[in-house]
Amino acid sequence: MSAKIILVTGGNRGIGREICRQLAALGHTVLLGSRDLKKGEQVAAEMEGEVLPVKLEVAKEEDINNLATHIKDKFGKLDVLINNAGILVGQKGTVDVDIDEVKRIMEVNFYAPWRLSQAMIPLLKNSPDGRIVNMSSGMGEWDSLRLGNYAGYRLSKTSLNALTVQMASELSGTKVKVNAMCPGWVKTDMGGAGADRQVEEGADTATWLATADTIPSGKFFRDRKEISW
Ligand SMILES: NC(=O)c1ccc[n+]([C@@H]2O[C@H](COP(=O)([O-])OP(=O)(O)OC[C@H]3O[C@@H](n4cnc5c(N)ncnc54)[C@H](OP(=O)(O)O)[C@@H]3O)[C@@H](O)[C@H]2O)c1
Repeated sequence: MSAKIILVTGGNRGIGREICRQLAALGHTVLLGSRDLKKGEQVAAEMEGEVLPVKLEVAKEEDINNLATHIKDKFGKLDVLINNAGILVGQKGTVDVDIDEVKRIMEVNFYAPWRLSQAMIPLLKNSPDGRIVNMSSGMGEWDSLRLGNYAGYRLSKTSLNALTVQMASELSGTKVKVNAMCPGWVKTDMGGAGADRQVEEGADTATWLATADTIPSGKFFRDRKEISW
């Protein structure tokens, strides 16, 4: 397996941090995205392997464009984009939720991965095996919407899943593959202490989608297995 150039957003803590650690340990070059570069530098310094901290506030178009230019100049290509950064705010359902709050969630969980993908696709096309991994959630699965609550978060992930399907289809004539995944319920700042998984387990499917010899495109995974939308 040859070393890949892999960008992970929200790499400074939680699942993203563990994805960076796993990929670097496998010998890949990891660009650890962090909106606070100092935090990214601290975390990267603690990891084994080639982990390069990069400044990336995913909701900031300027950061995305600067990073795309930096990657182009330094590597000429990107092999994998892992859209991991995300926020979970509020628990209200569609009837009561503040739409401005929904917009803030959509900006980070949906528009940012979309913008980043658009910016990186030319670089991913320069790779012999370009991949996009969208960190979604079972909370965005179609059937789980019937449970109500968490409207902003759920619908941001349902939208991300829909984006995955359409983008994968549009890129089917290229070498770039696009998939979504759910990490399960993971002990992080977002998942809380009551979650039933450690970060190692939550990060595993992302590491697999980034590095497996062959993967399909336009699918949704948990525990390396396809799940329904
Ligand atoms: N934990 C779970 O049980 C669970 C379950 C299903 C799906 N997920 C998904 O997995 C992903 C990671 O979750 P997590 O549990 O690791 O969350 P977390 O511990 O809260 O970490 C979130 C990461 O995203 C970054 N981030 C948030 N907003 C950002 C922005 N605007 N620009 C750049 N980075 C930003 C954070 O950076 P800062 O440190 O700067 O805030 C942090 O690095 C998310 O997409 C989440 O929706 C998690």
